[in-house]
Amino acid sequence: MAIEEYLNQHLTTAFTGRKVFWHPVLGSTMDEGRKLAVAGTAEGTVVIAGRQTAGRGRLKRSWLSPEGSLSMSIIMKPPLKYLSSLIMVYSLAVVKGIETVSGIRSAIKWPNDVLIEGKKVCGILIENEIRSTEVTFSVAGIGINVDFDPDHHTAISSLATSLFRETGKRISRKEICCAVLNETEKLYLEACSGRSLRRRWQDRMETVGRHIRIRSGDTVIEGIAESVKEDGRLLLRREDGSLEHITVGDVTVLKE
Ligand code: BTN
Repeated sequence: MAIEEYLNQHLTTAFTGRKVFWHPVLGSTMDEGRKLAVAGTAEGTVVIAGRQTAGRGRLKRSWLSPEGSLSMSIIMKPPLKYLSSLIMVYSLAVVKGIETVSGIRSAIKWPNDVLIEGKKVCGILIENEIRSTEVTFSVAGIGINVDFDPDHHTAISSLATSLFRETGKRISRKEICCAVLNETEKLYLEACSGRSLRRRWQDRMETVGRHIRIRSGDTVIEGIAESVKEDGRLLLRREDGSLEHITVGDVTVLKE
């Protein structure tokens, strides 16, 4: 069954995934999503690619998206005051979606990677357009390693895993896509009605409580990750007792 038809039959959402653009091959769903958003597409529109030839990740990295990966971008238009909740919405939607479909319990690595046993199974990239006090649109890209073996890709083999690798089963991309979209809408509506997702996000985050190093450009700092803030920032306690509020960076866990 085509993915559009599958979603049409199995989505429980009011608007998320109700307009879907499927492409067997795309450069990046982020660029296609952005084009649609600029043209005024409806909130909840989703762009999905069978594979990407120029997938991109956070911090200007490239993102490998071979056949068997799920690459999608979701367009939302939240009120500005809830924009920072989106990283919580999407990462929680992915961990819940993965659990529903495969039974696997994954964890969030701050800010929004999803890991299984310390290896990356999903990356999330959020690009926003804001005009004065309004969010014109937010495009969220979700890349999940579903039905391929990362061991066959030397660039990611030591750091990444996939649902196929973890379960030995051929998990369907349609199912995982549908589960993530269903969870996304529930969490998004909660966030936009003012309910905090912070506690749930923190509880699924493997970073909190660990001794970590954060690299952001040329700056590197170390400390204990204490908690996360409502606006998504990470609170890092340094050895001298001072507390840093971290907005962006790449985390490495230093000690168990
Ligand atoms: C990261 O971990 O750095 C984020 C990776 C985000 C990858 C997804 S795949 C769908 C969408 N299209 C892209 O080009 N990137 C995002």
